[in-house]
Amino acid sequence: MITYVYAQDLKGAIGYKKDLPWHLPNDLKFFKEVTMGHTMLMGRTTFESMDRRILPGRKTVVLTSQEDYGQDIAELGLVHSGEEVLELAKDQELMVIGGAGVFKSLMDHVDKIVRTVIEGEFPADTYMSDIDQENFRLDKLVEVPANEDNEYPHRFEWWVRK
Ligand SMILES: NC(=O)c1ccc[n+]([C@@H]2O[C@H](COP(=O)([O-])OP(=O)(O)OC[C@H]3O[C@@H](n4cnc5c(N)ncnc54)[C@H](OP(=O)(O)O)[C@@H]3O)[C@@H](O)[C@H]2O)c1
Repeated sequence: MITYVYAQDLKGAIGYKKDLPWHLPNDLKFFKEVTMGHTMLMGRTTFESMDRRILPGRKTVVLTSQEDYGQDIAELGLVHSGEEVLELAKDQELMVIGGAGVFKSLMDHVDKIVRTVIEGEFPADTYMSDIDQENFRLDKLVEVPANEDNEYPHRFEWWVRK
């Protein structure tokens, strides 16, 4: 099965200048908890925005059309088409972590969405479309107020395909 994991602001912004538009440590902690132990799939641009780092405790797989990409990183998994992604998701919960290009190309196949909504509006150049509520229902919601270390109130949402 395929699960999307991402954070957006109130306007759907997810990225700015190849980075996240905000700094919110609590969301990074949440991301770690949700993805730990799973295989994470990401687009080539997102992988590069993470400085091509392999995060501990999670298998990293990059989606790219470039056949010779990433050969220098031994631990890296690579896939080159949507079909290969579906094959990978057949016998595990595959955590698809973005960015917008990858989310768009797999939208028909996503089973679950774990979304952080940050209560603010940020300068951005990459956006996520809103969740289609005809096809997904909100299963769980946790609201978190701002605090000393986390400047913005935010909420964690779990959506499942109807
Ligand atoms: N807020 C969040 O939760 C979040 C999460 C992730 C990323 N982001 C942000 O989003 C931005 C990056 O997103 P993006 O949309 O520009 O890039 P992206 O989705 O990470 O990567 C796009 C690349 O993925 C590959 N790709 C996508 N679909 C493919 C397919 N069907 N077959 C083969 N290859 C495919 C292509 O790589 P090739 O060009 O190599 O072929 C494409 O150029 C950054 O700002 C990042 O910080 C935010």
